[in-house]
Amino acid sequence: MSPAIQAPRGTFDVLPEDAARRDVVESNARRILTAAGYRRIETPAFEATELFARGVGEATDIVQKEMYTFTDPGGRSLTLRPEGTAPVCRAYLEHGMHKLPQPVKLWYLSSFFRAEAPQRGRYRQFWQIGAEVIGSARPETDAELIVLLHELLESLSIRATLAISSLGTPATRAHYREELKDYLLAHRDELSEEARGRIELNPMRAFDSVDPATRAVMERAPKLLDRLAPEDAEHFAEVRRLLDHAGLAYRVQPTLVRGLDYYTHTLFEFSSDALGAQSGLGGGGRYDGLLEQLGGPPTPACGWAAGVERMLLAGGELPIAPLLVDLYVAIAADDAVAAAFQLARDARRAGLSAQLELSRRTLRRQLAHADRLGARYVAIVAGEERSSLKEMDGGEQQELTTAEVIPAILRARALA
Ligand code: HAM
Repeated sequence: MSPAIQAPRGTFDVLPEDAARRDVVESNARRILTAAGYRRIETPAFEATELFARGVGEATDIVQKEMYTFTDPGGRSLTLRPEGTAPVCRAYLEHGMHKLPQPVKLWYLSSFFRAEAPQRGRYRQFWQIGAEVIGSARPETDAELIVLLHELLESLSIRATLAISSLGTPATRAHYREELKDYLLAHRDELSEEARGRIELNPMRAFDSVDPATRAVMERAPKLLDRLAPEDAEHFAEVRRLLDHAGLAYRVQPTLVRGLDYYTHTLFEFSSDALGAQSGLGGGGRYDGLLEQLGGPPTPACGWAAGVERMLLAGGELPIAPLLVDLYVAIAADDAVAAAFQLARDARRAGLSAQLELSRRTLRRQLAHADRLGARYVAIVAGEERSSLKEMDGGEQQELTTAEVIPAILRARALA
């Protein structure tokens, strides 16, 4: 016998017993975001590689080492999407959504792919709920997005802490980068090899380092937040004012860095201690330059994404609706299959949840199975003309024609 094939490393199966909790995450997200005027969008699982190279940034870890890139039979380079913001912006431009009333508010629940080292909370295929607002530069947009993500986490009984920061404009950032590079070069000998290797390409990542000596250097490093232009500082102050007004607790973290290059101005992240090393639940920020970068007109935008698996890991008990079985259709004789089959269909059309016996067990086993499923009623079908309807709770049994079964259940339900 050849060995059984297993799922690839870093991937997982969503089993029926896991699906119920995921459904709660999805339905809460749908409720919260739909109520705020967001509409669902889904984009393809793969895109032109260039979308991510240009959108997410050549210098990021994601583009440099985490993408699943392949050549299709037509010789084009395609990539399994590592994130959703660049694809949503591509779709906005491709479908002329700038002609719609602005801003356009979109949400998605999709799977993403990153070739990261797998561990608890970090997978190679994972799901995100995301929200993007395209076409508004107003700070109330940023604040509302943050409040909506907070609401989603609260609805899942997740205790999370919020960190926020601002990156200002690309010009401010470019200026600051040079200042930071000079600072890092002056302290080169104290830095980890990794941080040293990134001075030229991505000096800000040194704030991410776990190396104690590097961390000590970074604590004394100049902070971008202290270098913001007055209008950018005002934007950030307004976001904070609105969060204060909403009663949201947050920490201003000048060293907050996220692994994507498109951010400008506001940056935020929710995290949870319950998650261990992979503590990021979800986050995002403003990306005012991305649409232009992708070939569109200058268009301000802001958004976030939260990992479904991490929310489930950090979440408390969720109210799971039990599987409901109003009617189990048991088959008492070989020539009763067609009548039973029809009864199950008719019951579903009448709005009942109905399961048909599919294994041709003995009648005794069929009843035991129906009991295990928690069925309210079992119809034991002996043919067109003969059925017994058994109420599982009370044990009462009526002899009926098969056509009388559904009216009898509906009548009993109306009286209950
Ligand atoms: P991100 O921080 O890369 O942002 O991912 C968002 C969330 O996805 C993370 O906080 C985490 O919960 C989850 N996540 C990321 N990688 C993995 C993984 N390998 N395994 C499991 N979960 C993971 C973005 O993707 C941006 N597109 C967010 C955004 C939207 N910014 C603006 N709009």
